[in-house]
Amino acid sequence: MSKVKAALDVIAAKAPGFRAQVALVLGSGLGGVIDAVSDAIRISYAELPGFPRPTVEGHGGQLVLGRIGGVSVAVMQGRAHYYEHGRSDLMSEPLETLRELGTDRLILTNAAGSLIPEASPGNLMLITDHISLFGPNPLIGYHGNDRFVGMDVPYDPEIGSGLKNTAAELGIDLFEGTYCWCTGPSFETPAEIRALKTFGADAVGMSTVPENILARRLGFRVAAVSNITNLAAGMGPTALSHEQTLEMAKEGSANLIKILLRYFSSDA
Ligand code: HPA
Repeated sequence: MSKVKAALDVIAAKAPGFRAQVALVLGSGLGGVIDAVSDAIRISYAELPGFPRPTVEGHGGQLVLGRIGGVSVAVMQGRAHYYEHGRSDLMSEPLETLRELGTDRLILTNAAGSLIPEASPGNLMLITDHISLFGPNPLIGYHGNDRFVGMDVPYDPEIGSGLKNTAAELGIDLFEGTYCWCTGPSFETPAEIRALKTFGADAVGMSTVPENILARRLGFRVAAVSNITNLAAGMGPTALSHEQTLEMAKEGSANLIKILLRYFSSDA
């Protein structure tokens, strides 16, 4: 039996008949979204074949199924990063499992460093495009013509404008920009950040892009939001650390949670 089928069997036993309208992946410090899920059924990744075992502080390891507003949601609290295992395809089975729950809408969230001074810690950035040049493509080794995924529209404009409108209604700034995936786990150097700026990057982080590529192959429409936790290396006064990321994630995450809750509530 495939891991996806086995994971779906576990889900069917715990949440019979559950279908998702939107799937969500929560990045560092965004676990608070879980508290807003009503009728929540929580399933530890340890029970779900193919799901990651998070090794990163701030990343819970559970799938939460339930409702936010009028929408049924499947929320992954915690993800696998390339830097944990040296594989960029580890989110493939979880994403396939989410897709089999009936949804084609996926919202990815992350913590990121900003390359534009106006978007400072505590701000949010809607990812409108990305740069994926520094880590291996997660589809390497896949077979079939569907591995040649078109990436001309990597992020769904309709979900993006829904999130933008929601943020505007709430009076929350939502910057827009290009996210550059760097492998981590070390942060970038100031020289790397200067180079990435000339490449057109507005934010930098260690996740999301492999998931976007895997999800596009699966036919998901993807949106992604970065929670800006710091100015990128060499641009701000503070030394970068994971502790600082977690601490600074709190401010932006409160706003991101507000946006997501309202987006779901106004959606059906
Ligand atoms: N670089 C990479 N990943 C990050 C950063 C950063 O500056 N901040 C939070 N995640």
